[in-house]
Amino acid sequence: MNGVFVTGTGTEVGKTVVAAALAHTLAAGGARVAVFKPCVTGLEEDGETDYALLRRAAGSSQSDAEIAPYRYGPPVSPHLGAELAGDQIDPARLREVADAAAAGADAIVCEGVGGLMVPLSGDYLVRDLAAELGYPLAIAAAPGLGTINHTLVTIEAARAVELEVAAVVLTPWPGQPSAVERSNRETIATLGAVEVLTLPWLDLTAPQTWPALALTGDR
Ligand SMILES: Nc1ncnc2c1ncn2[C@@H]1O[C@H](COP(=O)(O)OP(=O)(O)O)[C@@H](O)[C@H]1O
Ligand SMILES: [Mg+2]
Repeated sequence: MNGVFVTGTGTEVGKTVVAAALAHTLAAGGARVAVFKPCVTGLEEDGETDYALLRRAAGSSQSDAEIAPYRYGPPVSPHLGAELAGDQIDPARLREVADAAAAGADAIVCEGVGGLMVPLSGDYLVRDLAAELGYPLAIAAAPGLGTINHTLVTIEAARAVELEVAAVVLTPWPGQPSAVERSNRETIATLGAVEVLTLPWLDLTAPQTWPALALTGDR
């Protein structure tokens, strides 16, 4: 099974965009691609949901619930979103939904929530789910000042539980990167001993215009 788990250095760093670009690239290559997101919060806010963009990018016909089993209105951490709704996120259900999605496809692209150390339920972290699913990680990160620390901390957190880091993806990568951005890319690659890819600014309404984004090893 080809799969990838897209995490990030935090929230609003480009996880959904990176996951969408990976999914679209796989779909453009002829694969049936499923997408999965354990929990979505902030549905009461304006804007396209993560699962809608992921579904469109993948060309998937999965329902909202087949992509994201837990969906809450307030823009809060998943465990709090569940608590406010009188609900609880069940790790076993997350694995079932992810496995069902994968079973109907050639490849699966999962997007985490926030970063690796975000709790989904009690002390069950996004990192625990990633480890149980077993797919290699792609880490979305910003290109500019501050990203070296955030990215290296995330890589350490992943490797501490023997999660494979397939690549870091810096997004959105400017057409004319500054000296800081170019240095960040090289420094993360060297100190993190990791492949660092870049993703330019995408028109999210038009996946057919996106450049390919693929991980080494055709994951
Ligand atoms: N390569 C890119 N092209 C277009 N928009 C991007 C790109 N990278 C990040 N963004 C924008 O940055 C914001 C955060 O990205 P998103 O993927 O939603 O982050 P996350 O999933 O980590 O919360 C969004 O407004 C998104 O459109
Ligand atoms: Mg997202």
